[in-house]
Amino acid sequence: MTKAKEICIFRMEYSKENIVNLLSIEGKEEIEQLRQSAYKTMSEHCGEKVYLRGLVEFSNYCRNDCYYCGIRKSNANVERYHLEQSEIVEAAKWAAEQGYGSFVLQSGERTDPKFIDFVCEVLQKIKIGTKSDKLPDGLGITLCVGEQDFETYQRFFEAGAHRYLLRIETTNQELYSEIHPPEMKFENRLHCLAMLREIGYQVGTGVMIGIPGQTIEDLAQDILFFKEHDIDMIGMGPFINHEDTPMGAGKTNDFKDNKLLFLSLKMIAVARLVLKDVNIAATTALQAISPFGREHGLRYGANVVMPLMTPLEVRKSYQLYDGKPCIDEFGSECAECLAQRIVSTDREIAKNEWGDSRHFINKKKKSK
Ligand code: 5AD
Repeated sequence: MTKAKEICIFRMEYSKENIVNLLSIEGKEEIEQLRQSAYKTMSEHCGEKVYLRGLVEFSNYCRNDCYYCGIRKSNANVERYHLEQSEIVEAAKWAAEQGYGSFVLQSGERTDPKFIDFVCEVLQKIKIGTKSDKLPDGLGITLCVGEQDFETYQRFFEAGAHRYLLRIETTNQELYSEIHPPEMKFENRLHCLAMLREIGYQVGTGVMIGIPGQTIEDLAQDILFFKEHDIDMIGMGPFINHEDTPMGAGKTNDFKDNKLLFLSLKMIAVARLVLKDVNIAATTALQAISPFGREHGLRYGANVVMPLMTPLEVRKSYQLYDGKPCIDEFGSECAECLAQRIVSTDREIAKNEWGDSRHFINKKKKSK
């Protein structure tokens, strides 16, 4: 019997040891078995539709200095930008016209009142500006602007964001403190995730895969963390060196052996098996390490894709890692290319649907 079968892919409870075993699978056939099981789990719990969220990276100003990230505040080689509200709202309207259903607003982290007011205003404008017969409540909105306080999260929620993404990056606390400056505390991330949950957001988190020093046990623990924290949405991707960062300086990325790609895909598949009804994104970073990375992500159990809609002029300034794809395409070209790519995986693209996390919806139903 193959190793994958031996550990019985479809088990009700996954122990850390089972998860480590699944993530350690190397044989082609076994990986394919894992993929098929993950895909089946996805179709049973979420259906086969792919949900699109237009992604606008509206500012690359950041108060943080994460050792891995290209837009860290100490990187003087980045040209800083901040989009106008009108540009963001236009992009949102375009996304709504395409039938995307949902939108993601992402930026570097800032906590000053001017920034917070800006985000609240733009959320309200998007909500009002994208209402139509097809989308009576406007676009669904996911926000991704880092660690904030309770009042700020509450204000964003009231202004119209109903999902929030805040990656934990790694649940190995020692590793977390190695890749972040001392003022960034693991406990605060946990606290932020708890506040987001309390306010009523659909809560998303995720990790970087392949951080130097990270083990398979760490990754297994990450998946158990998602489960223990009752996470609704997952966004994970490979760690990629950025030359202007302490972790990436002097290093080149070499993805020829596909090891990192397969580890990332196995993470998606195992997260799907363990968590079942959550939304899982096939992230752009997957495509940075493999030309068809996002399509593979969909085949391994992901059900969300975030087409990049950041205006072309500033896209090159939002590079968290080297080799970001799609930095010289237009929004419309990107949309078309992505649609063709998704169709190539035999999946239907949801139109004018928010595509909320089934996990969140099921939880709500249960609590009534
Ligand atoms: N490689 C991969 N992902 C990265 N991120 C930031 N820098 C990198 C990198 N060098 C991810 C982090 C962050 C998200 C917005 O981008 O996980 O939470």
